[in-house]
Amino acid sequence: MNTAMQLWQKIIDELQLAVRPEADSHPHAPEEYAQLFHGTGDGGTTEVEYLNLINALVMAAKPETLLETGSERGMGTLAIACAIAANGFGKLYSVDLQPSELLSANLRKYGLAEHVEVVASHSVSFCATWVGAEFDFAFFDSDVHCRAREHDVLRRRGKLAPGAVCVFHDTSALRFGVDSSFDYIRYTDAAPGLTLPLSRGLKIVQDPPQSMDYR
Ligand SMILES: C[S@@+](CC[C@H](N)C(=O)[O-])C[C@H]1O[C@@H](n2cnc3c(N)ncnc32)[C@H](O)[C@@H]1O
Repeated sequence: MNTAMQLWQKIIDELQLAVRPEADSHPHAPEEYAQLFHGTGDGGTTEVEYLNLINALVMAAKPETLLETGSERGMGTLAIACAIAANGFGKLYSVDLQPSELLSANLRKYGLAEHVEVVASHSVSFCATWVGAEFDFAFFDSDVHCRAREHDVLRRRGKLAPGAVCVFHDTSALRFGVDSSFDYIRYTDAAPGLTLPLSRGLKIVQDPPQSMDYR
């Protein structure tokens, strides 16, 4: 195992990404089995089981240009950045309305800053005006009311590369609470791909057909 692969495990341990049962952080329907998932207990951070999967997906797909919408404390950013470091190439654009100091500090602390550009922007504006390379990988994790629009505008503008891997968080069809969005659940439910329904839910979509309107 190379050093960058080991780094992700070190970050999980040092930042205590798996110390609290997910069921303590969010309301869940019993069928979501949230007691089997783990997190930091801070609310926004993605469950470590899904962070591990995202880290592995980036290592397996070898994307060059990557997007994360919604960085918050940066745990998804670190999972992706470690995989980029392990791959030896790639650049992540991590977009948040208000990027946190902690994120930049952790990127520097773990030697990952060169792999990530932290962008202070509204996610939909970013997606609607991006003029760089097509994204090969995208993790949609901003406001649930914005994520379908982010994906849709990138797709319509041809800014998702053929075969791009798109990962949507919080897609459980049983999701409820203040941050739930029925439109978002319908959008991700209708998209062809891999549905992981447990805990807050994750949907993985690849190479969306240009003619399909998910709504
Ligand atoms: C669920 S948290 C992201 C968690 C992070 N991806 C992780 O895995 O640890 C959502 C973040 O999205 C940001 N956000 C919400 N709406 C946004 C928008 N329209 N554009 C950019 N960022 C947004 C919030 O500031 C918050 O930091």
